Amino acid sequence: MKILFAASECAPFIKTGGLGDVVGTLPAALAAQGAGVAVVLPKYRGIPREWKRAMHPRLSFYVNLGWRKQYCGVETLERGGVTYFFLDNEHYFGGESVYGKGEFEGERFAFFCRAVLESLPHIGFAPDVLHCNDWQTGLIPLLLNTQYSNLPGYERVKTVFTVHNLAYQGVFEWAGVRDLLGVDEACFTPDAIEFFGKASFMKAGLKFADLVTTVSPTYAKEIAGDEFGENLGAFIRYQVREVAGILNGIDNSDYDPKTDGGIEANFCAEDFSGKQACKRALQEEMGLNPDETVPLIGMVTRLTEQKGLDLVECVFEDIFFRDVQMALLGSGERKYVDLFNWGAFRYPGRCGVYIGMNEGLSRRIFAGADMLLMPSKFEPCGLTQMIAMRYGTLPIVRETGGLADTVAPYNEYEDTGYGFSFTNFNAHDMLFTVDRALGFYGDRATWARLQRRAMAMDFGWGSSAREYMGAYEKVLSRAQTTAEERYAGSAEEEQR
Ligand code: ADP
Ligand code: GLC
Repeated sequence: MKILFAASECAPFIKTGGLGDVVGTLPAALAAQGAGVAVVLPKYRGIPREWKRAMHPRLSFYVNLGWRKQYCGVETLERGGVTYFFLDNEHYFGGESVYGKGEFEGERFAFFCRAVLESLPHIGFAPDVLHCNDWQTGLIPLLLNTQYSNLPGYERVKTVFTVHNLAYQGVFEWAGVRDLLGVDEACFTPDAIEFFGKASFMKAGLKFADLVTTVSPTYAKEIAGDEFGENLGAFIRYQVREVAGILNGIDNSDYDPKTDGGIEANFCAEDFSGKQACKRALQEEMGLNPDETVPLIGMVTRLTEQKGLDLVECVFEDIFFRDVQMALLGSGERKYVDLFNWGAFRYPGRCGVYIGMNEGLSRRIFAGADMLLMPSKFEPCGLTQMIAMRYGTLPIVRETGGLADTVAPYNEYEDTGYGFSFTNFNAHDMLFTVDRALGFYGDRATWARLQRRAMAMDFGWGSSAREYMGAYEKVLSRAQTTAEERYAGSAEEEQR
């Protein structure tokens, strides 16, 4: 079975969030299960030079985009049993940042979708399944279905579309999409890609993929409703026959406190002395008072509304009324940057803040903090809570999406669970839950027991990779019956 991933980010080459981690680790896990796997992504300017130097130019071709022809270079490299294809076009991917704004963003990824499909006859990798991820790749299933399905080499290719975050939908002017890609007018209806008068790349993926998946079982249910459906709940209920929820995994060998070379000292569930050393080093690095006994709450997060930062803002001073320290690493919206910078000023020695992306520091926080606070408003899966648990850092989360699926709350009566969680999006519910965690932190034996439990959980890719393999097989077996199914469908329709 051959799987080609198409995505807008992939670690270690380029990453802005969890999508990059998933596309950076799932392919290798599938390869370990025997699949042939490749990944295609844009060759952004921001990819570090060492990786660019490792790429081999393979070929180039021209992509028809409206009345223009655009250059597309293909460069490759091999890593961990996976082949990576980088699509090169300076005009679209030569800018300072991975993502941008405005209609040009739509044109960039319209180009990418077209170029991925056009590259298939040239790259020497003929996929059975094209696995698309998020809105940036949403037009691939649409184009494949409406423009390529009868062309030699494309007839049997199936598509899987994974929603990593329904909140980002890629909505652009229809005239642009139609003119650039020649998308049929018939697709511009509310039950296909029309969305409040514009064209939605997300709807294109949801509607035309052979299988839709999302990154946790709970989020799969949530997005079909109105609260988390981002104005697409009804569309998902009526137009998508199934949304499979397959939980993300993390790379257990990369995130391993026993061997991680990027932390102050290694440690394991039997001996936490190394974790204490990590905490002391983190306090020093972030300008926090050197005190091992004070509970240290870590946050590693994009600074956006999704992450529940409004709850933190609401009770910020109440949190610091308690005897705690906080270490925050984040980047994103101005108002949250201002909030935490103000916090660092207001509580010197107790609130340490680093604004920006910093992979090394993220690990040092996962290893050195006692708790990880993640009160998300919604969370398709969330990786940071899983990484934190690997390092014996107990999560305090809101019960939504993948947080509900990965964090079993501690129940002191039955002595089960290893984290702390609350249900309502309410700042005082969060504060109460922080207080519960602080209470148990004071009970060293209990805390260590919960840490050991969290560290014993397996959040690796093993079982989820098997689920993906099953999903691909299902989609491919459907392939042979599609024509019959269509026939049966229309016969039923006639009978009615
Ligand atoms: P999301 O994709 O919604 O941002 P996830 O929890 O799925 O959330 O994944 C976030 C990933 O990005 C994790 O690997 C996390 O460590 C990383 N990350 C988030 N913010 C930063 C930052 N400021 N610096 C370094 N890594 C970060
Ligand atoms: C998105 C989601 C996050 C998820 C990640 C990887 O960025 O916000 O919850 O873990 O994608 O699927």
